[in-house]
Amino acid sequence: MNEVACTIRRAVPADAEPLAELAARTFRDTFEADNRPEDMAEHLARSYGPARQLAEITSADVVTLLARCGGPAAFAQLRHGNAPGCVTSPRPIELWRFYVDRAWHGRGVAGRLMHAVLGEAAAEGAGAVWLGVWERNPRASAFYRKYGFVDVGAQEFRLGADVQTDRVMVRGLVPPPGAEPAAAPGRGLDDKSESRA
Ligand SMILES: CC(C)(COP(=O)(O)OP(=O)(O)OC[C@H]1O[C@@H](n2cnc3c(N)ncnc32)[C@H](O)[C@@H]1OP(=O)(O)O)[C@@H](O)C(=O)NCCC(=O)NCCS
Repeated sequence: MNEVACTIRRAVPADAEPLAELAARTFRDTFEADNRPEDMAEHLARSYGPARQLAEITSADVVTLLARCGGPAAFAQLRHGNAPGCVTSPRPIELWRFYVDRAWHGRGVAGRLMHAVLGEAAAEGAGAVWLGVWERNPRASAFYRKYGFVDVGAQEFRLGADVQTDRVMVRGLVPPPGAEPAAAPGRGLDDKSESRA
């Protein structure tokens, strides 16, 4: 991260197309080697595309952060909504997606993005951040542990027709004084099935 200036900001509607491209590419890079092509194809078609990412960027239930290092390098999304039962912290918010482009792994972008995510979550009035991470994604799990997330349970994740197990991890937050409470669960985007950071 030292040699190239990176910026992190909230995504705006004009980012929908590059975000869709980045999101699909990073999901494919992360999971395609360990999954059936037909499951990947179904998931990618359902989850990514400029119209879908535009809806997410403009949703009141989602905070989308984009890191640019020359071009788009990473993104993260927080989502208001229901948390699984194993998350018992008050006012939890979901870290829905957290993806760094391969060229930027191990270079500090992820850490900066996580700091921005935690700041946004606190500003949203959340008391904790929770996420689902595939049980077969040791690098992401190690990264989240490094940032204070602890394993509290498991949940299902459907990739196409394949039912997989994600570990659920949580990290507490101290909201700044006067922050608005997190929004009531269950409103906004209709797609609640995909829940993997
Ligand atoms: C997960 C991700 C955000 C982490 O960012 P990163 O820049 O790669 O993170 P780091 O280099 O700090 O690695 C985190 C930890 O993983 C571990 N690690 C590094 N390389 C690893 C590897 N190949 N296998 C397993 N663990 C590894 C190390 O313990 C490292 O901590 P350390 O720096 O104290 O040694 C990034 O790798 C990524 O975007 N991956 C693809 C998308 C993804 O998996 N997203 C999460 C979906 S839930």
